Amino acid sequence: MRYFITGTAGFIGFHLARRLLAEGHEVTGFDGVTPYYNVKLKHMRHAALAQYPAFTPVIAMLEDRAALEEAVAKANPEIIVHLAAQAGVRYSIENPQSYLSSNVQGSWNIIDLAERHKVKHLMLASTSSIYGASPTVPFHETDRTDEPLTIYAATKKSMELIAHSHAHLHKTPTTAFRFFTVYGPWGRPDMALFKFVDRILNDQPIEIYGEGQMSRDFTYVEDLVEAIIRLSHVAPDESNRVADERVETLSRQAPFRVVNIGGGQPENLLDFVDIVEKAIGRPAKRQMLPMQQGDVPRTFASPALLQALTGYTPSTRLEEGVKAFVEWYIEARPELG
Ligand SMILES: NC(=O)c1ccc[n+]([C@@H]2O[C@H](COP(=O)([O-])OP(=O)(O)OC[C@H]3O[C@@H](n4cnc5c(N)ncnc54)[C@H](O)[C@@H]3O)[C@@H](O)[C@H]2O)c1
Repeated sequence: MRYFITGTAGFIGFHLARRLLAEGHEVTGFDGVTPYYNVKLKHMRHAALAQYPAFTPVIAMLEDRAALEEAVAKANPEIIVHLAAQAGVRYSIENPQSYLSSNVQGSWNIIDLAERHKVKHLMLASTSSIYGASPTVPFHETDRTDEPLTIYAATKKSMELIAHSHAHLHKTPTTAFRFFTVYGPWGRPDMALFKFVDRILNDQPIEIYGEGQMSRDFTYVEDLVEAIIRLSHVAPDESNRVADERVETLSRQAPFRVVNIGGGQPENLLDFVDIVEKAIGRPAKRQMLPMQQGDVPRTFASPALLQALTGYTPSTRLEEGVKAFVEWYIEARPELG
């Protein structure tokens, strides 16, 4: 199959592209290599993908409509997976503009081009952040999601809404998946696991927000990739409507569906720190801090719809995934600078 993936120099896009290339698919990877975090890591990811002859990298911004259009036309993809975004909850308080530009304007460009090039399935990365501070757990895709706490979440919700209206008008089969705290080797330097491991190895204190009373439904990146690939074969259509109406989100107005990708096994932040310490074999200096603006107290996925559609639920144990991250990080550290 021919895939067009945005965000291949990023954490998740890299893993998805690598798996597809290893399986013999053609992948065009579109990424602006933005300086939001260490670009060396982004270049390392693309260099690893370049070992596959079926990988075509394109370095450009989503907002550059002409460059995006040219890349999509050349790739002639059957499936588009849109992962490029300005990610990060906290940075969206400092720099909301980049979220509006990448996640709304940039996403619009890819949604519109997917239709013009008649792709079989458009897949868009959304986030658990759009559930906000909802006290009702687990989070079901059918829950209300109109009280986002950050501009990051608001832009992702906007993307979902724009994609729905576009799928209604033009019938492009579209799946928006909501990811839950993805982690693993080649992970993001702005996320807790990377920061904790880096600081513990450098004998520096780690900052624990919410006095440790937060919990997250962590998803191991390879489980996430497995779920994306399985979902890619289930383009939203009446023929695959799930019988249980409490979980199904397939629109009555459009070939559009929202799906959580998470295992439904939330972990308390302090237990997570224990697991990180064990994997490194060294205790952390813990600095307890209050919750930060925009933080949500918990995330907790209902995996019921994903399971019904694909027969799959992420299940890698946190101990195992954290260990894999630590091993990668220790090896990659000298090169990361
Ligand atoms: N990692 C998680 O836990 C998580 C959770 C929920 C949702 N998501 C979503 O999953 C997707 C992938 O996340 P990730 O963790 O791989 O993030 P990442 O930051 O590692 O990757 C995103 C990539 O997009 C590129 N990019 C950003 N803005 C761009 C633009 N305007 N034009 C072109 N390229 C641009 C960046 O250079 C980067 O390489 C994002 O859409 C993110 O919002 C991630």
